Amino acid sequence: MALDVQAVRRQFSVFAGKDAPLYFDSAATAQTPDAVIEAMDEYYRTYCANVHRGMHALTERATLRYEEARKTVGAFINAKYPREIVFTKNCTESINLVARAWGEQNLQAGDTVLLSPLEHHSNIVPWLQLKERRNIAVEWMEMDDAGRLKMESLKKILGKGKVKLVAITGQSNVLGVRPDLQKIIRMAHDAGARTLVDAAQLIAHHPVDVQALGCDFLAFSGHKLYGPTGIGVLYGKRDLLEEMPPFLGGGMMIHEVKTDRFSPGEPPQKFEAGTPPIAQAIGLAAAIEWMKQFPWKDIETYERSLIQKALTLLGKVEGLTILGPKDADAVSCCISFVADGVHPHDLTDILGQQQIALRGGHHCTQPLHERLNVPATTRLSIGMYNTAEELETLKVEMQKALDLLR
Ligand code: ALA
Repeated sequence: MALDVQAVRRQFSVFAGKDAPLYFDSAATAQTPDAVIEAMDEYYRTYCANVHRGMHALTERATLRYEEARKTVGAFINAKYPREIVFTKNCTESINLVARAWGEQNLQAGDTVLLSPLEHHSNIVPWLQLKERRNIAVEWMEMDDAGRLKMESLKKILGKGKVKLVAITGQSNVLGVRPDLQKIIRMAHDAGARTLVDAAQLIAHHPVDVQALGCDFLAFSGHKLYGPTGIGVLYGKRDLLEEMPPFLGGGMMIHEVKTDRFSPGEPPQKFEAGTPPIAQAIGLAAAIEWMKQFPWKDIETYERSLIQKALTLLGKVEGLTILGPKDADAVSCCISFVADGVHPHDLTDILGQQQIALRGGHHCTQPLHERLNVPATTRLSIGMYNTAEELETLKVEMQKALDLLR
């Protein structure tokens, strides 16, 4: 059955009324359905308490819901065990956790972390920090102008025998392309390297199965999955999480503390020092439950039709160059472009004044922009609530804005 977009939109307060925004910035943060807001509201109104501490009814209920959320997230990505799911602040913190806890323990001077030019700064800077601290090498796969990674460059770098980790995005937040994760992970493992997938963009638009992928680590945020901000997820294979030292120190991550030493607890609590994002975990689980009413097949077919429409409409705007592939089968959920003689910030500013939300800039991907030879781009990104009519309006208003700016 086709996705009923009006039925989707009715579940978001933000889209009620005639002044609803034209929201094309879901790659930055997706809008939140009422079901998620209500789940967090219920926690704060009726059972707000800390988790894994105390014996009273409120904390017992909060703990139950928090741990149920872990199970919901684990099942959503097909983790083998719920304890392979660590709650963090966001996707960035999840990747930093791996860089600090796994990286500092397992990487020595001369070891290589291999990245793709598609990476967001959150999957670059933690490795560059490790390069400064540990003198590791950071190497880069090659890519063509359409954002396709060159597998021969991966093979060549892996062949040097120095790569200990391949850290790769599942979907570019600029070009919308999806690297062949299965193949890259297999090649990395064959070369003895571990793998980390940055699923920040992929997670809301395509089913993720960590067991089928075989990745060692996978990271994402709640707020791009129609959930709240302030929560991220790190999936890690059980044996790896068990071996890793803690990242942050504090309450609840310990087994025992003496005046001169401590011993850490077991994962996932070992990596959840301090009060965790309780309402956010409950909200994230509600977002996942909310998504279940829409089959993946329907979401993907619908979103592909929107991207096809956007490519067609943007392709008709004079002096506008779309970066990356122009084929909806090769692009998922976002399109970035440059307009002759107009700075992306000016364009997004003018459209923003009319409640049309796009993003302009380098989108935290400076190496990718450098590779594409552009300082900045304008990005349109979609969620399952966008409509073809909104895209038509965007095209008209964008043409007007460009005429004004030129
Ligand atoms: N990573 C988010 C984006 O691409 C914030 O906009």
